[in-house]
Amino acid sequence: DPQKQAQSQSLLEITARAAKFYREQLKQSPKAIDYLKSRGLTGEIAARYGIGYAPEGWQGLRSVFGEQYEQQALVEGGLVITNDTSRRYDRFRDRVMFPIHDQRGNIIGFGGRVLGQGEPKYLNSPETPLFEKGRELYGLHQARQSIRESNTVVVTEGYMDVVALAQFGFGSAVATLGTATTATHIQKLFRQAERVVFCFDGDKAGRKAARRALEASIEHLADDRAVRFLFLPAEHDPDSYIREEGLVAFQRALNEATPLTDFLLRELRGDLDLSRGEGRARLVHEAKDWVPRMSAPILRAQTVRSLADMAEMEVAEVERALGMEPGNKK
Ligand code: CTP
Ligand code: MN
Ligand code: MN
Ligand code: MN
Ligand code: MN
Repeated sequence: DPQKQAQSQSLLEITARAAKFYREQLKQSPKAIDYLKSRGLTGEIAARYGIGYAPEGWQGLRSVFGEQYEQQALVEGGLVITNDTSRRYDRFRDRVMFPIHDQRGNIIGFGGRVLGQGEPKYLNSPETPLFEKGRELYGLHQARQSIRESNTVVVTEGYMDVVALAQFGFGSAVATLGTATTATHIQKLFRQAERVVFCFDGDKAGRKAARRALEASIEHLADDRAVRFLFLPAEHDPDSYIREEGLVAFQRALNEATPLTDFLLRELRGDLDLSRGEGRARLVHEAKDWVPRMSAPILRAQTVRSLADMAEMEVAEVERALGMEPGNKK
């Protein structure tokens, strides 16, 4: 649809100009620069990720756009808010600005962090014709080369995780930005690399995010692909971990990350008592919702075998219990 295309094009011009404005504002804001420094970021890495600063006040961004159609585009692009009395004001004020790029490098949205304490900690662009949550991966544009070289992509939760990992020399990280990992994310990730490692925060929310990533991955596995999970200590996220432990420790932890099938079996097992028939039956019952959906036949067969061992059953019995076609017997 050419009209839609033209609209997207002009929105992209607006977001690009907004990003430039935020970058220029950062240069003039000692407190924002200090904040980034306090988080261990150099000017070089800030430039690489196009980090900027949205000034205080209600009309900072708005006032650099003149034409009426530009004002309209600012609203459509989620950068300016219009309220019931049709007053217009900047969405992002007094925040460090992280531009979100698509794979080609177009800026499609922003995340803005408060300097220090404050609510909400991050404010993000709303869904716009350019920015669809659940599709985009923050940092993919900058990470592509490194991902290709290592054939590995690390998926984190947040802006600062990606940027801090890059700052410390690990360039293959992207972030889902607080939304759950979707099937679209998984497909996009597998187009980039054969190995995907989910590395979420060590807290409860991070462990929940890992379970959702497991759920999203299970039907998109392949036997020539690897999905792994790196569980950080409870007090850490990737940013704090690499800052405290360093690049070598992070890479070592990545190499020891938990394969998806191990994570799945651990989740299925939960705290069941496998010394009792009851617990072993429950294990196989729980597996019904998961194992038949695994899309990689070899990984699936291995998982069935592990379940059979844990449940003290024959492989064929487990397959029957899971409603699967019994495989070829040895
Ligand atoms: N997030 C968000 N809105 C919030 C909190 C979080 O959109 N109010 C998203 C952001 O993309 C954030 C990610 O969820 O980066 C992870 O959240 P959290 O772990 O709380 O933040 P950190 O990325 O660790 O942020 P920081 O280190 O700056 O405190
Ligand atoms: Mn968190
Ligand atoms: Mn975090
Ligand atoms: Mn953090
Ligand atoms: Mn049940």
